[in-house]
This record gives sequence, structure tokens and C-alpha cells, in this order.
Amino acid sequence: MTKKIRKAVFPVGGLGTRFLPATKAMPKEMLPVVDKPLIHYAMEEARAAGVEHFIFVTSRGKGALEDHFDRHFELEETLSRRGKTAELEALLGWQPAMGEVSYVRQPEALGLGHAVLCAKHLVGDEPFAVILPDDLVLAEKPCLAQMVDAHAGVGGNLVAVMDVPREHTQRYGVLTPGKAEGALTEVKGLVEKPKPEVAPSTLSVIGRYILESAIFGHLETQERGAGGEIQLTDAMAKMIGEVPFHGFTFDGTRFDCGDKVGFLQANVAFALARPDIGPKLAPFLAETAAKL
Ligand code: G1P
Repeated sequence: MTKKIRKAVFPVGGLGTRFLPATKAMPKEMLPVVDKPLIHYAMEEARAAGVEHFIFVTSRGKGALEDHFDRHFELEETLSRRGKTAELEALLGWQPAMGEVSYVRQPEALGLGHAVLCAKHLVGDEPFAVILPDDLVLAEKPCLAQMVDAHAGVGGNLVAVMDVPREHTQRYGVLTPGKAEGALTEVKGLVEKPKPEVAPSTLSVIGRYILESAIFGHLETQERGAGGEIQLTDAMAKMIGEVPFHGFTFDGTRFDCGDKVGFLQANVAFALARPDIGPKLAPFLAETAAKL
């Protein structure tokens, strides 16, 4: 029996330099896709997968994230007074309840592995999820829920993977794949941001992980890797052979919302998928495309 995934860690300490000037005074995780900030999609995806405790690893200037998940009594009162019942119910429906959210600061920008390590005392000794809010997945069944189902069968570490063009391997953690069965590929090796000519494959990790808590022990002693940062990939690589370890090829389309083009594509795709917005937007997109 695998343990239930009750906790998710959201590393949200990054500066968002790829998205300046929008992210100078606003956390990049607050960028909206249609009408919801990226972090909101991440939280909803975790909740849909059964997660009960949301752990945000923040840094300086990320106060808007805390405000987003906090009660806003003046807003609630105003919606109520104006008879905006549907809006009020929607708000009260998604706002986390007392004790469901924790924040911890990452004191220095030492990388993704270091960010995850900052959540050690909040996760404790149980398997947990990590979601990188920049990676947005449009899917019928949310990506993390697909992974939780697969994890119940295999346990251990599970990372979401997709094939990328070989010239892009330097942006990702890349697998040395072993045996593949259905959506699961055994992980034989893992390397962070390899050059295309030395990448062991094109099967690359995207920002969804289910990890054994033993990862923290490895992160504590992890030396700096690619980019001079403490890499989650390097600590995960040390667990190969210690626990079952699989890549999971998810159903859905992933958008890199840390990138301007990826972010715009996400906005178009998510808007088109919305019954209240898609039909109004589609004719404009078709007209615009016809002029290209
Ligand atoms: C991080 C991880 C990398 C992973 C990627 C997915 O890189 O280090 O292994 O493939 O997220 O988006 P970053 O995008 O933070 O450079």
C-alpha cells in the first residue's frame, strides 16, 4: 500500500527574470491565464489530486501570493451587499480553510532543490508532491491526479515527463530511460540541463513530482550542480536504485508559462477551452490567423 499524497510543495521563490518588466513588482506566479493566476491553477490541481496541505516556499516580494489565498472580508462583504451571490460562493469555495496553507521563506536563491529542502519540516516523513506553477498543463484529468493514480501502483519517486525537441534538452532534467510500460518509464539515470549532443534521451521532466521524503536527506548534502544551484534533479538521481523511480507520460498539453510565447499560448488554449469565453474568442483568432 502506498501512502496517500496529502501535501504539495510549491516553490515560488524565483525572480521571474524571463518575464520582466511584468514581474518586477509582481510575483510571476500571479500572472493570470484568462482570469486566474498561475499559482491558483497549481493549487486547484493539487486539490483535485487529493492534497490537503499546500506549502508555498516563498521569498521577498511574494506577499501577493499570501493575500491571494487569504480571506478578504471587505471583498466578501461588498459582494454580499451587492447581491453578487455567485461570485461570493465561488470565492468561498476555493479559498483554503484554516490550517491548509503554510508559507516558508527560502532565504537565498540557491535553486529548486534548496527550495524543496526549505519545506522539509512541514512535509515530515511522508511522500509528497511538488508542483512548479510555471508549468501549466491543460488536461481532461489534471496532471497530478493522473500521477497520484499511477503512484498508487508503483510507489517511490514519480516525475512527469514529455518528449522535447533535442535542441531543448538544456532547459530540462533529462532521463536515461529504462523499461517502458504504458505511461510509465523506468528511470535509469537523470541529468540536469544536458547539452543536446550529450543528452541521454529527449524524455524530459516537467514540473510535477511525487517524491519520497528520503529526498530531504540527499538534498541536505547535495552539492551545487548546473547553474551553480542545488538541483532537485541531482538529489533525485541519487535515489535511483534506492526506491522505485519512474517517469510518467501524462495526458495533456504542457505550457511553459515562464516563457512569453508559452504564456500566450496557454492563454489562448485555456480561453478556447472555456465555454464562456472560447466561442467569443475563436472568430477573432481565425480572422487574425487568416491575415498572417
Ligand atoms: C526545473 C528543473 C528541471 C525541469 C524543469 C521543468 O528547471 O530543474 O529539471 O525539467 O524545471 O520545467 P527550471 O525551469 O526551473 O530551470
